[in-house]
Amino acid sequence: MFENMSWGKRNRLASIVAADGHALMLAIDHGYFMGPTTGMERPAEAIATLLPYIDSLMLSPGILSSCISNSFAKGIVLRASGGNTVLDADIDDEELILEAVEAIKLNASAVAVSVFIGSEHGHQTLMNLTDMINAASKFNLPVLGVTGVGKALKDRKEKRYLSHASRICAELGADIVKTYYCDGFEEVVVKCPVPIVVAGGPKLDTDKDVLELCYNVIQCGAIGVDMGRNVWQHAYPEAILAGVHGILHGGLKVKAALDLVESLKNDKTRRKELFVETKEDVATSRLH
Ligand code: 5RP
Repeated sequence: MFENMSWGKRNRLASIVAADGHALMLAIDHGYFMGPTTGMERPAEAIATLLPYIDSLMLSPGILSSCISNSFAKGIVLRASGGNTVLDADIDDEELILEAVEAIKLNASAVAVSVFIGSEHGHQTLMNLTDMINAASKFNLPVLGVTGVGKALKDRKEKRYLSHASRICAELGADIVKTYYCDGFEEVVVKCPVPIVVAGGPKLDTDKDVLELCYNVIQCGAIGVDMGRNVWQHAYPEAILAGVHGILHGGLKVKAALDLVESLKNDKTRRKELFVETKEDVATSRLH
């Protein structure tokens, strides 16, 4: 998959993409623009039982150094763009927040930069991506291009836009592209020359929806998911993640994965709700 790359880059990517060619990334970077989102108020506690199921964690540099044990030995995908929050008019006014050398000092396996193509600050975000690709290249550090949508782009989770945005990330040199699933998603994958992972998006209604998403993503040729809210906002995070793992790495079909999820739901695996979720919290959680 990454045959043309240097040894260093391939070695780093091997901690994100498992030997079976699939990648289960757990995204917990939301706080960088959403604040202490429901389910991720206390990151260390929220992910404690989830780590055995994942290949890599996607997170911000501050949460890595403040909440994650320095014996963590899986892939680390560091968010490298930011500077805008949900309290602003939109979330696309991002700049680079991390230098490639700082990512290396934190033992990152890759860095992630969002682009908001077609939005007011679209050009700036594309330059963020290219600047990071050029800087990261000095260290053989892989770059994940993230096709973001905010308020202005919220209706663009469709194949024409996502193909356009994913292809542009690849053309600029991203090693992996993270985008959204959509109808006709196989076309997005075919038109993007580098591997694709899919964001989970806001919480889906049922476990079947989550598992079908994961199954369909793989059937369409993507390498995996970089999923957040559908795991850690789930009433049983470990159970749903075990189901996702079963599909990505165990070859399970949706029905078998659903059975696995059900079998793991019990008092011990139930998420502890630390705070009452307000209407505002729900709205914030659904903004991208
Ligand atoms: C935030 C991100 C998230 O990592 C991404 O959206 C994945 O999380 P979720 O499954 O909750 O959508 O890039 O900008």
